[in-house]
Amino acid sequence: MMRILITGIFLFVVFFAAVQVSERTVQAGEKGDYTSPEMWKGAGGAGKGVYMMNCVPCHGENGQGDGPLAYDFPEGQKPRNHTDGKYMATKADKDLFKAVNEGGEAVGRSSGMPAFKGLLSDKEIKDVVAYLRELCKCNYTGK
Ligand code: HEC
Repeated sequence: MMRILITGIFLFVVFFAAVQVSERTVQAGEKGDYTSPEMWKGAGGAGKGVYMMNCVPCHGENGQGDGPLAYDFPEGQKPRNHTDGKYMATKADKDLFKAVNEGGEAVGRSSGMPAFKGLLSDKEIKDVVAYLRELCKCNYTGK
């Protein structure tokens, strides 16, 4: 009797969890827009969505500068490794904002880094800069 009861409770819990998961999937599917930063909320914040959509081809999924297009860039001008905390700590948020907004040349780097002005809103760029800080696990130290 006890066993049946425990099995019953177990099955109920599994069923309940399955319903929860499928409901969530339906909600995401209904929105249907996987390119919306909203989709990524809770999975690294809105900045992660911006990053996944715009930066991964060059900077790579994990931000290590190893995206599929990285190989097209000459040595010394490869997409930045955003997990390099030592380098990233030398850049203030406003420097990173400028690099993304106006492109590499605006911050004395190569034009391989495109300008996202007009493509991304200021808010999206701020969000993605916040995400860069997550990738580098660093803050601006000035050095
Ligand atoms: C077409 C490829 C490409 C894309 C797309 C791209 N980048 Fe870059 N990025 C580069 C390259 C190449 C560099 C290195 C430039 C250099 O060092 O001369 C770079 C450098 C940077 C830097 C460092 C600037 C500095 O001061 O050293 C930041 C920050 C950056 N990218 C952020 C981003 C973000 C955020 C996105 C997405 C919104 C993005 N990049 C999309 C190619 C790209």
